[in-house]
Amino acid sequence: MDPAPDYHRLREQPITKATLDFDGNEVWLVTRHADACAVLADPRFSSDFSREGFPARMTVRPPGPGTFIRMDPPDHGRLRRTIVGEFRLKRLERLRPAIQGIVDGLIDEMLAAGTSADLVRVLALPLPTLVICELLGVPYQDREFFQRCTQVIGDQQAPPARREVVRNELRGYLDRLVTSKRQEPADDLLSRAAARMAEDGIDHDELVGIATLLMIAGFETIANQIGIGTLTLLQHPEQLAALRADPDLVPAAVEELLRHQTVIDYGLRRAALEDVEVGGRTIKAGEGVVVVLSSANRDESVFSDPDRLDLTRAGNEHLAFGFGLHQCLGQLLARLQLQVLWSTLFTRVPTLRLAVPLTEVPFRTDMFVHGVHALPATW
Ligand code: HEM
Repeated sequence: MDPAPDYHRLREQPITKATLDFDGNEVWLVTRHADACAVLADPRFSSDFSREGFPARMTVRPPGPGTFIRMDPPDHGRLRRTIVGEFRLKRLERLRPAIQGIVDGLIDEMLAAGTSADLVRVLALPLPTLVICELLGVPYQDREFFQRCTQVIGDQQAPPARREVVRNELRGYLDRLVTSKRQEPADDLLSRAAARMAEDGIDHDELVGIATLLMIAGFETIANQIGIGTLTLLQHPEQLAALRADPDLVPAAVEELLRHQTVIDYGLRRAALEDVEVGGRTIKAGEGVVVVLSSANRDESVFSDPDRLDLTRAGNEHLAFGFGLHQCLGQLLARLQLQVLWSTLFTRVPTLRLAVPLTEVPFRTDMFVHGVHALPATW
């Protein structure tokens, strides 16, 4: 359940060159916390997959309209700004009762169905999908469609052609939803953004792209964080008991689980637009960079005893949500979901435990976003 042990050795030196398995290209590997922050905060590193040297797996098209996670300034800022207010704490707090209701409902169904379940299927996958539906203002009768779409998109076993079809269906649906929010606004993110399009300088297709981005960025990451975080808690029964006894511990516990189990392991990539010095070495224009968040989060110069899980850890400056320009827009919403879920689950189901030996849990070592494919549990 720990990141690759090689990262420990790599952190002893400045940034290093590595060869990508899939195309044989060389990239710079950034494994230290300070260097990761330096790269991620520097606009001379591009997030656009179509840039020369970008460590991308396939021949890539320029980002579709609205996909600001893959754009650089000024478009990135223009699009991100249109929804940033929706992710402030005060507004998100208004979603707390709805999130609590969703969590309670999922646990009710899980308990009613028997005494064992795959927690990925019954909790980790449906929770974030239902929360995004709530945020965007997806009507209740369409939520099952959303769940089916995100399950296929997140399932690497599904044939690529099928996933592409479902992705287009989702986009088509969101296109119609934006149109209906423009005609009949309600109290939700999409209605508010649709009403401000001219003022914000975005068009219909860009808003559809933003909604699609939120759907995808706010799903696989958090679903896996729920799976691997729940497993980690079950593997540390003493710390879990302390957490159950003291609900005030929950926020710090969430931060520690994000640090200790960083699902976007080596997922942040950039291409240098100019020559830039990082960690005493020069990254040349057109060279690719891979930032290893899970290594930065175990950097011994920042975290004491970094491999130890300590749910009471204070001043936890982890990089699980990235850093700088593209730092996760949905991080407060992610925290809210994790806090509500873990404070409710272990109180309502105090006897929850793993149903199989740890060695039989299917880890997602084959996937870009880490976690578990399934989490068989019993109570
Ligand atoms: C545990 C859950 C989550 C994790 C670990 C996570 C992690 C990240 C990371 C590392 C980035 C930075 C990407 C980069 O620098 O290239 C990011 C960006 C982003 N995330 Fe999250 N995320 C989570 C949940 C969410 C949720 C719930 C939402 C929305 C509902 C969301 C929306 C976004 C968006 C829109 C961006 C792009 C920000 C930008 O480019 O300015 N994320 N996330």
